[in-house]
Amino acid sequence: MNKSKVLIVGGTGYLGKRLVKASLSEGHETYVLYRPEIGVDIEKVQLLLSFKEQGCKLVSGSFNDHISLVNACKLVDVVICAISGVHIRSHQILLQLKLVDAIKEAGNIKRFLPSEFGTDPARMGHAMEPGRITFDDKMEVRKAIKEAGIPFTYISANCFAGYFLGGLCQPGFIIPSTHSVVLFGDGNIKGIYVDEDDIAIYTIKTIEDPRTLNKTVYIRPTENILSQREVVEIWEKLIGKELQKSSISAEEFLSLMKGQSYEEQVGMTHYYHVCFEGCLTNFEIGEEDVEASNLYPQIKYTTVHDYMKRYL
Ligand SMILES: NC(=O)c1ccc[n+]([C@@H]2O[C@H](COP(=O)([O-])OP(=O)(O)OC[C@H]3O[C@@H](n4cnc5c(N)ncnc54)[C@H](OP(=O)(O)O)[C@@H]3O)[C@@H](O)[C@H]2O)c1
Repeated sequence: MNKSKVLIVGGTGYLGKRLVKASLSEGHETYVLYRPEIGVDIEKVQLLLSFKEQGCKLVSGSFNDHISLVNACKLVDVVICAISGVHIRSHQILLQLKLVDAIKEAGNIKRFLPSEFGTDPARMGHAMEPGRITFDDKMEVRKAIKEAGIPFTYISANCFAGYFLGGLCQPGFIIPSTHSVVLFGDGNIKGIYVDEDDIAIYTIKTIEDPRTLNKTVYIRPTENILSQREVVEIWEKLIGKELQKSSISAEEFLSLMKGQSYEEQVGMTHYYHVCFEGCLTNFEIGEEDVEASNLYPQIKYTTVHDYMKRYL
């Protein structure tokens, strides 16, 4: 069977560039959207050229030009979008509605993977303001996909390791301290941390797997389901030293939000749901959905311990 041809939208992004690499390494003919709007952003242009050197095809297309998106979709079988959705960087999730229109018109796409890659938005109907916008926007895209009748896979990737392990689960930090840490309450709520390169590989594995068609795929590597306290312990062992620990209550954490910018508040409410509420681990995966490390046991995922060695 010929492998699916893949279009990556948002390929220059933090996750997107890893999806490009994974798609190539899995042997897919890989197309990356090149948006003329990036202008003279030399870093992006160089990155796109490096993709080309590695065997990708660059395809010009703009979210302001419907036909260009339709034409890009017509070249491939699968579209994966990794457009931005982190407010402190950029949040463009609803632009995907234009991509959904293009996929619908193109009519040939066997699978669309929208930009999700985090907490399952379908489980976040109760989410707090202002962070709920992330989940609401992702649900709006899901609604459009459903209405257009487009086959899909939704990837619930849990916590990107770079943000959560890098900061020992503290918002606003992405390099782990060797001195101190603030625990969320008792620090015993479990989160799930996934190396972004592993997220990309699992994602690519799903694209022609019939078991993942029209499903949510949760990425829950067993060894990486840990509390903040356990993450800190792993770090302490690596550096051979105990950190000074203090604790913040949920009320104190929420009151801290008041002085922050809108973008920071969005991020803080996400941390609240993960670290105080346990929104990633307080449910069982239902029979209708699937888990990536069970589907692909041959993939040797990166453990939290191994991920954290890079900070030594
Ligand atoms: N679970 C977690 O912990 C976690 C953490 C971070 C992100 N995420 C999720 O992962 C996904 C990707 O996030 P990311 O941080 O990788 O994204 P990112 O690096 O901030 O941006 C990805 C790409 O989005 C495209 N983009 C940005 N602004 C655009 C605009 N105005 N018009 C069109 N395209 C635009 C750009 O691609 P091009 O220039 O190549 O077109 C950019 O490189 C999001 O859904 C986000 O919510 C999850």
